[in-house]
Amino acid sequence: MKENKKTVLITGASTGIGRAIAIRLAKEGYKVFAGIRKKVDKEEIEGLDKNIQGVYLDVTNSGSIEKAFWYVIKNTDKIDVLINNAGIVEASPVECLDIKRLKEQFEVNTFGALAVAQKFLPLLAGSRIINMSSDASTGLFPYISAYCASKRALDILFNSFYLENKDNIKVISIKPASIKTPIWNKSAKRARDYFDGINEAVRQKYEKDLLILEKNALDNNTKGLEVYTVVDTVVKAIKAKNPKASYNVGFDATLAQWVSKLPIELSNRLIKGRLKI
Ligand SMILES: NC(=O)c1ccc[n+]([C@@H]2O[C@H](COP(=O)([O-])OP(=O)(O)OC[C@H]3O[C@@H](n4cnc5c(N)ncnc54)[C@H](OP(=O)(O)O)[C@@H]3O)[C@@H](O)[C@H]2O)c1
Repeated sequence: MKENKKTVLITGASTGIGRAIAIRLAKEGYKVFAGIRKKVDKEEIEGLDKNIQGVYLDVTNSGSIEKAFWYVIKNTDKIDVLINNAGIVEASPVECLDIKRLKEQFEVNTFGALAVAQKFLPLLAGSRIINMSSDASTGLFPYISAYCASKRALDILFNSFYLENKDNIKVISIKPASIKTPIWNKSAKRARDYFDGINEAVRQKYEKDLLILEKNALDNNTKGLEVYTVVDTVVKAIKAKNPKASYNVGFDATLAQWVSKLPIELSNRLIKGRLKI
């Protein structure tokens, strides 16, 4: 039976930020469709709150998006908030960045978000789309340039969507600094597996930088901000009568935005100095 509650669809809700947002909104009385990819994650998240309904949704798979749409439409006539949260981080020096991995980065973080929004448009008139962007969208971080580019592209595409759309859909970009979530271990592992298999000469050239990169990624497990900082910002963006187009979460996100406004030569010098590369 269709319910009369405010409804949210969130992609990538199995872990980290997505999971935390799903739980918080469910506790506040929203009906939450939580995008997951595994049966075990569906059972786990549905067990947390009766307002959460797991929905199989792989954002890179058009068949999966189609099925998710028909599943959701059976349960509601309207999505009040779509949260494009699913994301991965590909790390590599550009010199040996595998094009397949670069495409995968964009498939999840950028094209997937757009594909989901396009499919669910019939349920979104007058609603809000919240994109989990990143400080990487304004930052120019070496070794994760694929990630930065995917988030920048996400923000550019959706800003145009906001300007163009005739359905009064607001678009909000959330730009967190580093947050303590499983994404950092996953990314470090993916990068490590990849570098172990690349050309020895290239690997040796970048070995020192890659170790710093891996350490920085793993340090985020302790030094990163708590997940609730992002959740609070999302809740604020949902409840604000006139939400901002973009919210930074954490000082580093504001710093990245500030640095992005400097002449490129100066910002490059600052980044090189800070990373000691
Ligand atoms: N953590 C940070 O420091 C940080 C900072 C700025 C922005 N962000 C952004 O926040 C978002 C959430 O990240 P997180 O830190 O919470 O990481 P996380 O715990 O690794 O969560 C990522 C989520 O995305 C899902 N996902 C990955 N590929 C997918 C696909 N093809 N289709 C559907 N779902 C997929 C994962 O599902 P599975 O479990 O099924 O793989 C998981 O639920 C990402 O967009 C990330 O870029 C994170």
